Amino acid sequence: MIAPNLRELAITAMEKSYSPYSTKKVGAVIELSDGTTFTGCNIENSSFGGTVCAERVAIWKAVSEIGPGVSVKTVVVATDANPPWVPCGICRQVINEFASKNCEIHLVNKTGAVRSFTHRELLPHGFDRSALMD
Ligand code: THU
Repeated sequence: MIAPNLRELAITAMEKSYSPYSTKKVGAVIELSDGTTFTGCNIENSSFGGTVCAERVAIWKAVSEIGPGVSVKTVVVATDANPPWVPCGICRQVINEFASKNCEIHLVNKTGAVRSFTHRELLPHGFDRSALMD
């Protein structure tokens, strides 16, 4: 189940989107295990590779404010798409880096559609730190 306040935060975050090239507004909110929230929006660049997705902006804000112990309990991503967009592969990888064990990812739009997954469903067999610890 998605908390109504998180849905609202993600939808509100869309309004800050800087997306003159795609014209696609994306908003995201992450809730940490202690209940703290951070929002993000997509920020595009005329050199397209400089574009960053809403999910990663939210996570980078959290890490830069809280430090490396960030543990993400919930991610909510809002778009105008129907069905709502899923996170891109790079964002799935970045979410995986900071996800708590049962991290949920909810995808929403303004018309009330919701698609819900665990982060493991969206990134099965993900690459993680265990590969670097042998
Ligand atoms: N985008 C996101 O913000 N999150 C995603 O997971 C998928 C894509 C943004 C990047 C770009 O600004 C626009 O959507 C079109 O790709």
